[in-house]
Amino acid sequence: MKVLVINASPKLERSNTLNVTRAFVSGFPEGTEVEQVDIYSKDIKPCKGCFACWASNDGTCAIKDDMADIIAKIKAADIIIESFPLYFYGMPSQLKAMTDRCLALAEPYMGTRSDDGQTFNKMRDNSIFEKKFVVISSCGYVELEPVYPALLAQYDLICGGRDKYTAILCPMGEVFMTGKAKRQIRVYLDDVKKAGAEYCENNFKISSETIRKLQIPILSPEGFATLTGSHQNEGGWAASRFGN
Ligand SMILES: Cc1cc2nc3c(=O)[nH]c(=O)nc-3n(C[C@H](O)[C@H](O)[C@H](O)COP(=O)(O)O)c2cc1C
Repeated sequence: MKVLVINASPKLERSNTLNVTRAFVSGFPEGTEVEQVDIYSKDIKPCKGCFACWASNDGTCAIKDDMADIIAKIKAADIIIESFPLYFYGMPSQLKAMTDRCLALAEPYMGTRSDDGQTFNKMRDNSIFEKKFVVISSCGYVELEPVYPALLAQYDLICGGRDKYTAILCPMGEVFMTGKAKRQIRVYLDDVKKAGAEYCENNFKISSETIRKLQIPILSPEGFATLTGSHQNEGGWAASRFGN
């Protein structure tokens, strides 16, 4: 089994999210081949919108940069894990650039599904639908519900439904870089590792109970505020020690 981890944090190895992703993959069976690509250290130019990929027979892109290599890795992987921070309720810019460039994987055909009216692209190679897709993201806010709906709606549309991918979302991502709350972090990451094992044992699905468990914030809002030097203010949180 080949796993491709697409690390889309500009902080590269210092990514908060990568702690969660590594724990998840550590639950996979022995012998699993894992490759990590740090897309912020790759040359991925924005899509020019020229549709040269659609005009070509095999989806060759007009831009010559590292994206051809990434597409080859996506094609070779059985499981693709995108690991990234939430930026302005969505994906960070380099991941959006990478996603746009994946137009090369689609055929120049847009249709509408008869059951729910959603638009879709035909893909050049239907084996892409056999791949398993996991989104792992952390955010700075203390709760998930107010900040993730737009990102999830986007992935629902890209993947063709919530049941077509697995999402592991982690609030209070900044807790990982504080160097504190070690016991709580260990307990949380141990649950993530168990979720990785469950995912592989359970035909690449995680129960809604496990998902719910992983969405419980690692600390109380007050504990998180103390560690990050934040304080509650006019109904919100003023963060002062985020990042390093
Ligand atoms: C430009 C920028 C935009 C952000 N936007 C959000 C946001 O919309 N909601 C949120 O909860 N956190 C937001 N954050 C916080 C990050 O999602 C959070 O720090 C995350 O844990 C960083 O993950 P990483 O270390 O893997 O990059 C933002 C951070 C930055 C730098």
